[in-house]
Amino acid sequence: MCGIVGYIGKKDTKSILIEGLKELEYRGYDSAGIALLQNDKIEVFKAVGKIKNLEEKVLQNTTCCTNFDTLTLGIGHTRWATHGKPTELNAHPHLGVYSYVVHNGIIENYKELKEELTLSGHIFVSQTDTEVIVHLFEYYFNQYNDANRSFKETIERLHGAYSILLITKSEPNKIFFMKHGSPLAIAKGNDDGEIYFASSDAPLIGLANDVVYLEDGMSGVASIYGIEFSHSVQWSTLPTNKLFAQKNGFRFFMEKEIYEQKDVVVDSMMGRLKDDTIVFDELTHDILEGINEIKICACGTSYHAGLTASYLFERLSKIRCTVEIASEFRYKEPLLTPDTLFIVISQSGETADTLEALKMAKNGGLKSIAVCNVDNSSMTRVADATILLRAGIEKGVASTKAFSTQTVVLWMMSLYFGTIRGVLAKEKLEIELQTLREIPNSLKVEDKLHEKCRRLSKRYLHGHGFFFIGRDVFFPLALEGALKLKEISYLHAEGYPAGEMKHGPIALADPELFTIALMPQHLHYDKIKSNVEELSARDSTICAISPLPFELSDDFINTKKTNHYMLEFFEMLIVLQLFSMEISVRLGNDVDMPRNLAKSVTVE
Ligand code: M6R
Repeated sequence: MCGIVGYIGKKDTKSILIEGLKELEYRGYDSAGIALLQNDKIEVFKAVGKIKNLEEKVLQNTTCCTNFDTLTLGIGHTRWATHGKPTELNAHPHLGVYSYVVHNGIIENYKELKEELTLSGHIFVSQTDTEVIVHLFEYYFNQYNDANRSFKETIERLHGAYSILLITKSEPNKIFFMKHGSPLAIAKGNDDGEIYFASSDAPLIGLANDVVYLEDGMSGVASIYGIEFSHSVQWSTLPTNKLFAQKNGFRFFMEKEIYEQKDVVVDSMMGRLKDDTIVFDELTHDILEGINEIKICACGTSYHAGLTASYLFERLSKIRCTVEIASEFRYKEPLLTPDTLFIVISQSGETADTLEALKMAKNGGLKSIAVCNVDNSSMTRVADATILLRAGIEKGVASTKAFSTQTVVLWMMSLYFGTIRGVLAKEKLEIELQTLREIPNSLKVEDKLHEKCRRLSKRYLHGHGFFFIGRDVFFPLALEGALKLKEISYLHAEGYPAGEMKHGPIALADPELFTIALMPQHLHYDKIKSNVEELSARDSTICAISPLPFELSDDFINTKKTNHYMLEFFEMLIVLQLFSMEISVRLGNDVDMPRNLAKSVTVE
């Protein structure tokens, strides 16, 4: 997702910023930019696509800021589009008249601020929320002629999440900074007076030793003469290993990605979840014209997200929805009719089977949407419309944050479709929107929960297999739990609809058959309870995951009490991901790169 770098010092600022941005590439982005300030000259460069596009522009066009004996300030940014398309105009740094800003996060009240500033003569050129920050700063500076005061007044007016670096010709030796919501670190360089800024450790490693990780609400101003912080700060020592830094201190990318789900879903909802409605700028209102059915096609984890969505589309949009595994769909000679909206789901956008299924649907004249994490991937180029997940790059082969963001996006789509079809009552919509806002909390990994999964994992390293069982949307979640376990522990696991056990699989039940039972309070609790009791009566070892105590369980993972089954869904997802990861660790497997698997399956 978006990344920030900044530098004050006498070295080659442009190269330091470009190299810093390269270190943030692993987070994913669609455009990038830097601004350089030397004396009263500012130069800005922006480019869409890879950092090397920006680098070429900078090398060919820099005219100022080439004198390394003179202090040069610089700020840089990688942007993952949220408000407005990935264009140069929307890329950061954003300009007022004499100041530039880079920003990570979202300014929730940007529309009101933009209106106010427009009335007082400020001219906006981008579609972003960020641009209001620099105009607000100049609005105050034009009144007070005091940059410190103007910056303080500016940040007091902002609502939302905002980590900011701002430079201005009115104080050409300073960088103003603020952290609220998104991460921001400041490090002292190895040379005298040098200061580095970055939104994560990777760009700082090797250049600095001492770092401050700003807490929410901290702001200040930095110059070659020192840093003034709004609050007292604690300096710490930077790690020295880049890969470790990219993993944010976690043991595995998978672990990091599990932990960051609570943040990336916020990005997935950004600009789409409004006060009283859902908006998808990527879709036109006539998207459902002539449509009587949705068909979803995907593979693996993405298929499980699709299966989850099929319950939500039928329940909330009141539209028939079928889901197919792409590799099966391709060869079954499917009947395709133009009253079907075809949705493919894919983290990579390159999975061969899903891509071919999409092409078949296109050739059959169906409208299509790609729900995808990678912009400009093959599927996004073929589909009529694309809805990006905004999960950032997923490195662990075992997909985690792609699944949670897919589920959130598809859930929002079901609400959007329900609204435009006029089948979703206002009160129902309000409850769903409120629940969406609570998802980050359900995805937060509590230390206690992680520790519980770690401790329990030692009891589940043997046996002849696992049944993951659930009902309704907890059935696809059970499938996903079983897939996670299979992929990284190499133990045999199957997901089943809980009510299906008595039709055959229960014959396998014995103490060495482990049942992982998903028992949400708010969806068919009594039904699933009976199914688990049947398994317990046949001596299966039961690990129950539920907010309600269940006396027949051999092991019990207590989830939080909430008021909506989807909040239970996301917390149980975290449990399943942690549980399989900890089993894999105990078995000594390679968590991020399990045997026989590839991250992107581009062959059929
Ligand atoms: O990139 P995609 O979402 O299209 O990939 C589909 C599957 O290959 C993928 O979800 C796979 O099942 C994961 N390794 C699951 O963790």
